[in-house]
Amino acid sequence: MTHIPVLLREVIKFLEPRPGEFFIDGTIDGGGHGAEIFEKVGPDGMLLGIDWDERMIEMAKGKISAKSNLKSPRLRRARLPDGQGFGGQEKSKLILIHGNYADLPEILKNEKLPKADGLLLDLGFSSEQLETSGRGFSFTKNEPLLMTYDSSREPVKEIIRDISEEMLAKIIFEFGGERFSRRIAKAIKERGMRKRIETTGELSEAIRSAVPGNYERGRIEPATRTFQALRIYANDELGNLGRVLKKLPEILKQGGRAAIITFHSLEDRIVKNGFREMEKQNILNILAKKPITPSADEIRENPRSRSAKLRAAKLAY
Ligand SMILES: C[S@@+](CC[C@H](N)C(=O)[O-])C[C@H]1O[C@@H](n2cnc3c(N)ncnc32)[C@H](O)[C@@H]1O
Repeated sequence: MTHIPVLLREVIKFLEPRPGEFFIDGTIDGGGHGAEIFEKVGPDGMLLGIDWDERMIEMAKGKISAKSNLKSPRLRRARLPDGQGFGGQEKSKLILIHGNYADLPEILKNEKLPKADGLLLDLGFSSEQLETSGRGFSFTKNEPLLMTYDSSREPVKEIIRDISEEMLAKIIFEFGGERFSRRIAKAIKERGMRKRIETTGELSEAIRSAVPGNYERGRIEPATRTFQALRIYANDELGNLGRVLKKLPEILKQGGRAAIITFHSLEDRIVKNGFREMEKQNILNILAKKPITPSADEIRENPRSRSAKLRAAKLAY
């Protein structure tokens, strides 16, 4: 299933990419939003795409090059004189880097890139990763229990083996909002003692054994919240988001725009409070008081968009 970019029109409206500008897509994935931004900045502009999942960098390269008729399929890294921005002779229009968006200031420095006119973060995982990564993001598939974007992180199968039952319950409660967290943590640890849990199927079974038969009256799968919690923990998703917000002035130039799409309330609260705090300190101006959500039409066409919330801000200095 190809990933459909969420709130695309609204993202473009707030980011306002213009010809000649330099934009960053910090979660480029297959390049759904990225390709649109790349088109808007035009031949004199530049796009830096980052993803923590190396496989997605290859996908983005194919998609954006095809859409924009970019001649060279091997994209060069920028080679610019120090402090010269991207006005030098040697420049790539599209730079794709495997990395964590929370390290953006360091990435810009290493690549000798200037602060950007705009930054997009479209958080979490994509349909592509859910369907084809084989990394255990979906409880509907029986795959190795990894759930990490970057293969250097500790996979979930090891996390659940190494941490205490108490800590596991805390993670499932805090990052999943799961009221049966204690029972689930107990079942996971007990099962793991008998035989190591290595797959998503085994984890789902342990979760199911711990919750009542009529869990949430059948409205959601018992594994939903626990899977979300373990993915957030394994990738330090909330920590990354908090870090990048603090670093916005090192990433964006004066007047630079930031658009962030979140998919659950924990992330949205961090963006809402982070933006508010920075507005109080005159670091940025919030562009929409309320989060932007998808229309009924978009949700019908792309059910994955239903929990999306977009917040946007403009750097004040
Ligand atoms: C929802 S997808 C983005 C979809 C993209 N906007 C599109 O329309 O094609 C989120 C992407 O963010 C990546 N990701 C998650 N955490 C990241 C991080 N800390 N740094 C960089 N990329 C990250 C995931 O690997 C995934 O590819």
